[in-house]
Amino acid sequence: MSSTLVAPAAQTTLLETFDLYAPPAEFYESPYPYYKALRELDPVHENADGSFYLTRYEDVRRVYRTKGMTSDKTGMFTKKYGPGALLEQHTTSMLFSDPPYHTRIRNLLRHAFTPRALQQLEHRVVELVDGLIEQCRDRGEMDLVLDFAFPLPVEVICTMLGIDTRERERLQEWSREILTPLEPTATPEMIADGNRAVDEFTAFLRDLLEEKRANMARGVRAGDILEDLIDSQESEDDPLTADELVQNCILLLNGGHETTTNLVSNGMKAMFDNPDQLRKLHDDPSLIGGAIEEMLRFDSPLQIGNRGIAEPFEVGGTTLAPGTQILTSIGGANHDPDAFDQPEVFDITRTPNKHLAFAAGIHACIGAPLARMEGTIAIGKLVAAFPDMQRTGPISRGGRARFRGLTSMPVSI
Ligand code: HEM
Repeated sequence: MSSTLVAPAAQTTLLETFDLYAPPAEFYESPYPYYKALRELDPVHENADGSFYLTRYEDVRRVYRTKGMTSDKTGMFTKKYGPGALLEQHTTSMLFSDPPYHTRIRNLLRHAFTPRALQQLEHRVVELVDGLIEQCRDRGEMDLVLDFAFPLPVEVICTMLGIDTRERERLQEWSREILTPLEPTATPEMIADGNRAVDEFTAFLRDLLEEKRANMARGVRAGDILEDLIDSQESEDDPLTADELVQNCILLLNGGHETTTNLVSNGMKAMFDNPDQLRKLHDDPSLIGGAIEEMLRFDSPLQIGNRGIAEPFEVGGTTLAPGTQILTSIGGANHDPDAFDQPEVFDITRTPNKHLAFAAGIHACIGAPLARMEGTIAIGKLVAAFPDMQRTGPISRGGRARFRGLTSMPVSI
């Protein structure tokens, strides 16, 4: 059982040192004592830049469900990044847009997530997971992040989009460089890297699309989602433009892999910290569905969301004015005792478990069924293959507040 409880008097001290834009090292280790203090003492916390950080479940849920919120961050990103490729990526992607543009793009991208598309991918996920497990079996040890959680999701998305998996390392590098400037602590160097990464990624995808179109014109098809999306440019009434297709493919690639890596890494760390739960899952593999939900809740891969206020929003007795920026603490909400019994306890049989790891409302994660499928196969097979798995060395963390994950976790198998 994990406990991150902090004595009430110490909570005030925690908050005195709390700055989301320059958090102390302990926050990266475990943000949960900070979230607890914020929920109890300062649930509508004003950040130094005038934005507000909400940590209570009901407040966060309401932000996601309220119509008077905007995800369009053109103003904020223009100020933060200046003109350039990074600005174009983040303002063309549906993640940072509102209806009707958002609705149109989301409807067109549904081709990537039909039950048929997911079913086709499932065989490949099984194959990939089996392959990764076999590669490690004889060694008697593995780095659960580097050897397992990191390579899997990018290979799955490459398969989904028909990208040669030998490009994996380049894609992972670009993705990281594009997402890092979204952190509250982005530096000018990170922004420059982000601009270069979008330029390179865009050129890569344009070449790939051209090649696919040429093949399709010759009747040669690989049966991937990118082909479905190209087809949809012909068949839909208001189809994706070339730019929208490229920028939203970048979004799919970015959205789908680091988060899923974090699900597997954080989830397995929680299992090692709670060996009774690891044993329980091993003894009863049918618990895997609930285990994945609890991993998503307990140490959520994506911890912070953003919304802008478009209409006055009342929260915690304060009315926030249009134009105000809100940061939603998904990690805080998912540990709120008003929504979860004993939230600091990791319990793979927890029910109900209405966590907000995939957010909620119109922007709720479109890739959630894929992430759940990958997590279920990866962790289910890992636990079955190596029942005596144990951590053997120190873990390391990426040191980021929004994307919470590990960069290394050595284990014996
Ligand atoms: C455990 C893994 C994952 C987690 C925790 C996660 C989490 C989230 C969250 C919290 C959002 C809402 C963001 C917001 O509006 O503020 C989101 C949106 C999104 N996710 Fe995921 N995600 C995961 C996996 C995936 C996968 C596998 C894909 C695609 C292959 C994906 C693609 C997207 C896209 C495209 C959006 C934007 C949806 C929209 O704006 O309508 N995600 N995700």
